[in-house]
Amino acid sequence: MSTDRPINLSDYEPMARTRMDPGAWDYYAGGAGDERSLADNRLAWDRLRLRPRVLVDVAQRDLSTTAFGVHLDHPIIVAPMAAHDLAHPDAERATARGAAAAGALLTLSTISSVPLEEVAAVEPAAPRWFQLYTPVDRADTESLVLRAVNAGFSALAVTVDLPLPGNRERDDRNRFVLHMGAHLPADQPTDETGIVVLPTFDWDELLWLRSVCPIPLIAKGILRADDALRAVHAGCDGIWVSNHGGRQLDTAIAGVDALPEVADAVGDRALLVVDGGVRRGIDVLKGLALGADLVAVGQPVLWGLAVDGADGVRHVLEIARDELSLAMALTGCRSVADITPDLIQAP
Ligand SMILES: Cc1cc2nc3c(=O)[nH]c(=O)nc-3n(C[C@H](O)[C@H](O)[C@H](O)COP(=O)(O)O)c2cc1C
Repeated sequence: MSTDRPINLSDYEPMARTRMDPGAWDYYAGGAGDERSLADNRLAWDRLRLRPRVLVDVAQRDLSTTAFGVHLDHPIIVAPMAAHDLAHPDAERATARGAAAAGALLTLSTISSVPLEEVAAVEPAAPRWFQLYTPVDRADTESLVLRAVNAGFSALAVTVDLPLPGNRERDDRNRFVLHMGAHLPADQPTDETGIVVLPTFDWDELLWLRSVCPIPLIAKGILRADDALRAVHAGCDGIWVSNHGGRQLDTAIAGVDALPEVADAVGDRALLVVDGGVRRGIDVLKGLALGADLVAVGQPVLWGLAVDGADGVRHVLEIARDELSLAMALTGCRSVADITPDLIQAP
């Protein structure tokens, strides 16, 4: 329901739409093909039912957690997304300010409109990761990784589900061309919409990347236990369970539907992140219950950015955090560690 006073994440969506160029809006909102995965990312959370615990003293709730030894105020993080300048002239600088104000870790996309050093300088003490699309040239990749490390990004999330960009038909129809952003060489091979094309990135390249990356490495875009295990064996410290917001392979399963098998296979050997369609604090609680350590939010952050810059980003993330806190109270959880699989009804 749209309103002038947004009180939940979905309230921001129609407000953002009216403020954006229609082609840019479709780039943010669209999925691949018939957008089945895009829609299912929402439905997958809605299908899950909770089994609340009662009569727990929940007057004090601790949402804090850690990721690779870094303290986080809560387990909700910002997913990497390209081209924040389409939403707001302050672009990723405003996103960084808003995320820091809400105590949320920011994952900055390689296709950031603002150079990573500038984003880092906005909130030097705030927790941040860098998402990597590998340039074709290994030397370019290595220097980009080291730039991120030097700028205080404390982990690297390498996206593994984009050998080719998905068929985002809205962009085709709109003849939308994405600007490559601040970090990729101008001659990076791209498809006609300007998206990075790197079909040669494989397990050997991942091993090489591991060898040159001095910070924790996360494989982003895994949907199967066998791939998750292979990534762990290749030295990854984290697995980001995701179908890329439904923007890559249409009808690919939702991240949350893949999460139990990945959590089962990986156990404590890697940090687990899940994303896709998270629009409620209750979704975050479900992701944590099914084994994720952190839950990432994508599109709603861009909606907040489009509506009210840094303040909109902050508000979106604070709403999600406060909803998680309420969901914890109503399921008898005093801490993130109390959010266990038995809270979810068996399928
Ligand atoms: C506009 C947009 C741009 C994105 N750009 C990137 C990107 O540059 N790198 C990446 O790994 N994922 C990218 N993603 C995927 C997100 O990181 C994340 O997996 C997804 O958006 C989560 O789903 P949600 O938007 O429904 O929360 C993008 C998503 C959107 C919506």
